[in-house]
Amino acid sequence: MELKNARIILTGAAGGIGACIAKRLTAKGAQVVLIGRRAEPLAALQKEIFAAGGNSHYVIADLVSNEGREAIVAQASELMGGIDMLVNNAGISSYSLFKDEDPQAIERLYKTNLIAPVALTSLVLPMMLDQGHGHIVNIGSIFGSIGFACFANYSGSKFALRGFSEALRRELEEDGIHVSYVAPRAVRTSLNSPTVYHMAEAVKMKMDDPDKVAAQIVVAIEQNKNDVYLGWPEKLIVRINALMPRLVDAALRAQNKVMRKVLKDDHASLTGG
Ligand SMILES: NC(=O)c1ccc[n+]([C@@H]2O[C@H](COP(=O)([O-])OP(=O)(O)OC[C@H]3O[C@@H](n4cnc5c(N)ncnc54)[C@H](OP(=O)(O)O)[C@@H]3O)[C@@H](O)[C@H]2O)c1
Repeated sequence: MELKNARIILTGAAGGIGACIAKRLTAKGAQVVLIGRRAEPLAALQKEIFAAGGNSHYVIADLVSNEGREAIVAQASELMGGIDMLVNNAGISSYSLFKDEDPQAIERLYKTNLIAPVALTSLVLPMMLDQGHGHIVNIGSIFGSIGFACFANYSGSKFALRGFSEALRRELEEDGIHVSYVAPRAVRTSLNSPTVYHMAEAVKMKMDDPDKVAAQIVVAIEQNKNDVYLGWPEKLIVRINALMPRLVDAALRAQNKVMRKVLKDDHASLTGG
């Protein structure tokens, strides 16, 4: 999609990847409504964008609530006079054995990573259908194509987001509305806890720079890509996992042991156990 003058809602705008996406979209002439829960980082980002000659607004809202999502769409469409694109970038993660996950935290994760993007899409879609064009961009993860031990809920939420993106793209093909799904591998942002950084080091997991990831997301948007997987060899492993999952089971077995051990060790050092 042409970004000059495009009217865009961006969730998770103050986050590691989101702030870089916001700066890149506005540098290309898009108008962006930045979404987050905290005013301070959103106001600072808006100031930075303004100083660089860009155009943005911000709306403070919790994506987990219906009211929050309705306020986002109502305010964004009023501020910009319409909506051409929704970038569902906000997300949370959890590195834990499934048996240790708190049920409320599980619910919050699926609401943030899955229900919020789906519900926001359903709120902006009527406008897009009326105007005959639009672009939904869902930020997934490599973990949404390869199920990782100790990330069952995060993986589960991103698998579902990927399926939703694919089905909706096929459904809207003749309506002028495009759906992109972009899946980064691990990125150096505060989404990842210190324990995740320990684990990444222990298993030699590659972690990308958020601005480089944002640059690839913006290219995917401009080129109306369908599904984009970032990182090598991860994009190949995604294909192998789809065709021959047993091979990937075997390849991940040793890594799973390390992932469990890092969790146990970090928990023990925190609790003095
Ligand atoms: N970092 C990685 O390793 C990695 C890898 C692959 C994919 N991804 C995906 O990339 C996307 C961006 O991640 P990131 O690394 O940039 O994460 P991040 O730095 O933690 O930023 C996430 C953003 O989401 C927002 N958010 C979370 N819950 C929210 C809620 N209930 N309501 C409103 N906003 C909410 C946060 O807003 P507040 O500022 O208000 O807290 C924060 O700005 C996510 O979808 C993530 O799954 C990340």
